[in-house]
Amino acid sequence: MDEFRFVRMERRESTALLTIDRQEKLNALNADVLEELAEAVTDAFVDDDVRAIVITGAGDKSFVAGADIDMLAEQDVLEGRQNSLVGQDVMETIEDGPKPVIAAVNGYALGGGCELALACDFRIASTNAVFGLPEVGLGIIPGYGGTQRLPRLVGTGHALELIMTGGKIDAHEAQRIGLVNRVAEPDALIDEALKCAAKIAKVGPIAVEFAKQAVRRGMLLSLKDGFELEADLFGMISSTADMKEGMQAFLEKRKPQFRGK
Ligand code: COA
Repeated sequence: MDEFRFVRMERRESTALLTIDRQEKLNALNADVLEELAEAVTDAFVDDDVRAIVITGAGDKSFVAGADIDMLAEQDVLEGRQNSLVGQDVMETIEDGPKPVIAAVNGYALGGGCELALACDFRIASTNAVFGLPEVGLGIIPGYGGTQRLPRLVGTGHALELIMTGGKIDAHEAQRIGLVNRVAEPDALIDEALKCAAKIAKVGPIAVEFAKQAVRRGMLLSLKDGFELEADLFGMISSTADMKEGMQAFLEKRKPQFRGK
């Protein structure tokens, strides 16, 4: 499973571990990396044997140090808009996908790297992780969804402080404001993310997919419409074999065998 230049794909049990590997540029996202990342994530989404995805960066210094500044430096108005749309599209591919995606943030998560982590379902960070949206320091604004996802995750105040100062925060501060769920020692980070993915792999895959949809799509709706969406999905899941198996296994005091059907 190693067909890309900048993204390594490994299987760990039923988890696809995707490692962005462009270490000489601290894993910065150029057009090729973005394209490969979208392709790798999509491959994992459609692979029936994959139940969860973990995204990390190669090396011990950086998750992703941002969009490639060389690529952005010469952009005009139309190219700028296009660069933003392409990056946003990749982030949406991750966010909208049917399977859980966990960011294992192992160092710098700046600009597009922070935005990539934000597009994942949740984030686990190593103690050496550094988060920030430093774009204003380059005379631009975040363009891969950061101005929209960060305030929805941590609230407008924390988001605007990070975005307007272009400042950086460490893993513990990121955890304090709700940007990351957990902090692990660097050499325990991937295991921690894989353990979490393995827990998800044990439960009903359709239930996980629907739960992700209910939360993700619900965040874009009014509370009332969100309840309706939840009820629709709750109803729909009652038609699955997994639902019957889950209930039956409980009643028979055995472990369920979910088949994703
Ligand atoms: N785009 C392109 N290249 C990048 C990059 C980015 N976002 N981030 C790092 N690099 C490159 C550097 O230019 C350098 O390349 P070189 O060796 O060919 O000169 C290499 O990665 C190593 O980075 P360097 O700056 O030497 O490492 P450092 O440890 O001194 O600093 C950072 C690390 C992350 C603080 C610093 O690289 C940085 O500020 N990067 C940009 C972060 C950013 O603004 N991201 C948002 C972009 S929109």
